[in-house]
Amino acid sequence: MKLIYFDNAATTRVDDDVLKAMIPYFTEKYGNASSTHFKGQEAKNALEDSRKTIAKAIGAKTSEIIFTSGGTESNNLALKGLFFWNQENNTGKNHIITTRIEHDCVLNSCRWLEKQGAKITYLDVDAEGLISLDELEKAITPKTILVSIIHGNNEIGTIQNMEAIGSICRKKGVLFHTDACQSFTKVPIDVRKQNLNLVTLNSHKIHGPKGVGALYIQEGIPITPVSHGGGHERKIRSGTENVSGIVGFAKAVEISKKKDIENMIRLRDRLIEGILRIPNTKLNGSRTKRLCNNVNISFNNIEGESIGGYLEQIGICTSTGSACASHSLETSHVLKSIGLTPIQANSSLRISISKYTTDEEINYFLENLARIVEKLRKISPIK
Ligand SMILES: Cc1ncc(COP(=O)(O)O)c(C=O)c1O
Repeated sequence: MKLIYFDNAATTRVDDDVLKAMIPYFTEKYGNASSTHFKGQEAKNALEDSRKTIAKAIGAKTSEIIFTSGGTESNNLALKGLFFWNQENNTGKNHIITTRIEHDCVLNSCRWLEKQGAKITYLDVDAEGLISLDELEKAITPKTILVSIIHGNNEIGTIQNMEAIGSICRKKGVLFHTDACQSFTKVPIDVRKQNLNLVTLNSHKIHGPKGVGALYIQEGIPITPVSHGGGHERKIRSGTENVSGIVGFAKAVEISKKKDIENMIRLRDRLIEGILRIPNTKLNGSRTKRLCNNVNISFNNIEGESIGGYLEQIGICTSTGSACASHSLETSHVLKSIGLTPIQANSSLRISISKYTTDEEINYFLENLARIVEKLRKISPIK
């Protein structure tokens, strides 16, 4: 049976060149980057070269990149670290603005911070998943510490306008953080132009290894550490650095190509057009402000889970929400936020492609999807 992997928003295959770059850091160059001897320095050099590559990719200084264990940790560190610093320094500021369509690691951090005394504003989004810039501006108060808004959404692929949000934050004198796990290397990020003070990045969405990420923290932004130890990573994130993983992460960034993005856009559009030919289907998210690898469709009267199950039987992996949310049977908070009814939301399927996706895979998928949907609609009790 063919394997067609269309769940690249959950994670991606590690690129062969990434793996090749990592291997020596397990077997030969296994030193601890904090050791002063030559084995340690070998690892330290690799760590600093990787930091340089990642900083350059977002227009940051090398010293502004902190390595972490991934997107979840970076988002927790950004939100909690800033909140704790404000508490410790009695600034009187306790307000964070975010959106209703963030990844769970931002939403659940915010919910936890509410119990510690934070006030959180959750901005609504429109039918395409875009925030209102007016509402954002109105929500900022003298107590606002931070605006944290996801760049490219993991479920519906909507891309927010970083420049516009950044300029509002600059004008109002509040900090701006974005979770760029889904958009990194796919949509340009320039921390100076977009006035970004903090950016969350990770490796496993871009053909790098799992368990590695970074947080860009602009020089001079105070962050209180959330875990304590030997003072690694500018005393902000203690713990022996995952050198092999970090080398792989940097390699994944280095080999990312504009040509691959353009090809994904073409394949994504083939998918969207092909699927929308099936009657009674609807594209979720924005047609134009959309990640190159994301397709999310509602099929109305049939369950996304059933479509996914039938596709899986013929070797096609898709998803009905974010990878984390699929642990629960709850209706997606993102689809609810863009106005879908629970029935519409539960009839949705996310198809996320990668640079390895081919036209043949798209053809095979479209042929089989039309057949599966027709079959399921015939037996569906909801008409
Ligand atoms: C938008 C977004 N933020 C954060 C995360 C969490 O990243 P990680 O799996 O590296 O902890 C993910 C991935 O699941 C994501 O898609």
